[in-house]
Amino acid sequence: MDKQRAQWGTRAGFIFAAVGSAIGLGNIWRFPSVAYENGGGAFFLPYLFALLTAGIPLLIMEFTIGQKLRSSAPLSFFKIRKGAEWLGWWQVIVAFIIATYYAVILAWSLSYAYFSLKSTWGDDTEGYLFNSFLKVLPGENAGAFGSIVPNVFFPLLIIWVLALIILFAGVKKGIERANRVFIPLLVLMFGIIVVRAVTLDNATAGLQAFFEPNWSQLTNGKVWVAAYSQIFFSLSIAFGIMITYASYLPKKTDITNNAFITGFANSSFELLAGIGVFATLGFMAGQIGVPVNEVVSGGIGLAFVVFPQIINEIPTWPNLFGFLFFASLFLAGMTSLISIAEVFISAVQEKFGITRNKAVAFGAGGAAVISVLYATQGGLYIFDTVDHFINQYGVALAGLVEIVFIAWIARELSNLQNHANSMSDIRLGVWWKVCLGLITPIVLGFMMIQTFTADIQNNYEGYPTSLIMTAGWGVSVAAILIGILFTRYKWKGIDTNTTYEKSSKGVAK
Ligand code: ALA
Repeated sequence: MDKQRAQWGTRAGFIFAAVGSAIGLGNIWRFPSVAYENGGGAFFLPYLFALLTAGIPLLIMEFTIGQKLRSSAPLSFFKIRKGAEWLGWWQVIVAFIIATYYAVILAWSLSYAYFSLKSTWGDDTEGYLFNSFLKVLPGENAGAFGSIVPNVFFPLLIIWVLALIILFAGVKKGIERANRVFIPLLVLMFGIIVVRAVTLDNATAGLQAFFEPNWSQLTNGKVWVAAYSQIFFSLSIAFGIMITYASYLPKKTDITNNAFITGFANSSFELLAGIGVFATLGFMAGQIGVPVNEVVSGGIGLAFVVFPQIINEIPTWPNLFGFLFFASLFLAGMTSLISIAEVFISAVQEKFGITRNKAVAFGAGGAAVISVLYATQGGLYIFDTVDHFINQYGVALAGLVEIVFIAWIARELSNLQNHANSMSDIRLGVWWKVCLGLITPIVLGFMMIQTFTADIQNNYEGYPTSLIMTAGWGVSVAAILIGILFTRYKWKGIDTNTTYEKSSKGVAK
């Protein structure tokens, strides 16, 4: 099996793919508003802390696990400890759930790239998004589906067809090739946006709002959890992606340096996105004569309501600016969507001993079918709830369990450290073990308890309890239970006798 394992063509190919996975909707669409909502300039401290003590160390750990064991996430954890297979499946299910709504935001981006050509949204961009485009049900009906919205359904179909074409073509000919084209193109396009943004009138007012610290926020546990979730989501860690991608590395390759390159490339792009978005918001605030905080809005609103408004105001070539923005969102998101899908494709392929094509058809095809739920009139509320819960109790919590498992239960950190050091330029010191074994579990564990308490006390966004219980808690718990169910099937076509445990000190196949 191992002999036939797909492999990246070059080291650069792997780095492009890992960076392509990391840079996504999280960087352009989520980061600026999360940073702003959580203290602006003061957010950078928790963000940097989370990046350096959890993000990069965990990325190194996942790269090492994937490269060393050359397996999907569930098989990797199985090889470390048979009883830990469920943890891999939990991450696989989380990735599957994320793929189903991630594709929908991509579909919106694709539509909006098209709309920008003629500013189809008109003057009332909010009304356009919610009423004309998404045809959203009124708030009191949150939790119901309503009917399928063709405006979203057809672009969604295009997104999945494109993703499937890339995935069917395989790791080297599909994923690697797509990233080699999409990522440089994305950087070029986004670079143009940022240069244009910072040269707009009043750009500095926006940047000031973004960077000005609100120190009182630093003692707020919510801000720290937001920083950790942002880092995990943005770096594509704790949901199986980086283990899967690293499993396609050759037997001899650098690990640690690749992780640093990926981590810093992702955060640099994130910062660039923050600068671009806030410079533009400063311009907007100046145009309508209000403070910047009055034009900022969270998540969806920022990209799909405020940006179209700004595009309406931009003096030169507004349509080009709009097109570049939404096309960037599309490119960044597409390279991430295929990495998320690869998590369940590789896992299903190994578990059931089926061909890649079958795994793509069932895995990504299945996600495509389920994603239609979000292309309904009630899709927005469901998406918002699932996204919040699955990030806290899927990604962040699975990250915590993964770290505790590797550091304290399997006690594998030293083995992994030796393995990474045996082939990397940068040598891992004791700091790596301290970050993963102590700092991250303590800080993240404490923060998880705080958000959990807050989510128990108040319904997220004041949504109806039925929606919170199903799309929120229900989906989060189901991810674990379905994960456990998968462990009940035997591995087909894999020699599970050669486990990592049995081959001891780290030379597992
Ligand atoms: N890492 C991907 C993103 O930031 C999932 O969107």
